[in-house]
Amino acid sequence: MAAYTLNVNGRRAEVTTDPSTPLLWVLREDLKMTGTKYGCGIAACGACTVLVGGVATRSCAVPISLLGERPVVTIEGMATDPVGRRVQDAWVSTDVVQCGYCQSGQIMTAVALLKTVPNPNSSSPFVRTSRRPNSRTRQPSRLKHLSTCELTGRSSYRSTA
Ligand code: FES
Repeated sequence: MAAYTLNVNGRRAEVTTDPSTPLLWVLREDLKMTGTKYGCGIAACGACTVLVGGVATRSCAVPISLLGERPVVTIEGMATDPVGRRVQDAWVSTDVVQCGYCQSGQIMTAVALLKTVPNPNSSSPFVRTSRRPNSRTRQPSRLKHLSTCELTGRSSYRSTA
């Protein structure tokens, strides 16, 4: 066990835990901040994404001992963040949610992008899109693949026409 002093959403927090404990579990179990979700535990799904030093980071893969003095911002901190507030408002107005489980990680990833690239488009760095063939014709579809939910397998698409 070791003691750590964290800066989470601008507030100081003291925790005593095993140095190998992932940041995700410190947030959820020690600090009772359950907005950050556990999905895969192997840095693959993004449900646990928080900002560490302003960078979108999979908190399930960061041992608390490697955090150092970098500030952490979670979904709970988005209510007072101007970019976070706008992203959350857009989330609601455009009905982004699928099952909703990983949306905090998606919002944190979007906030990190918008803080880096304020007006992104499909050719901006960090924006990934792909073309998938239409399942019936095997021709490239006119839909731009935006994301696939790792839990449900449901994809979201946007028309490119
Ligand atoms: S739970 Fe961390 S990436 Fe899936």
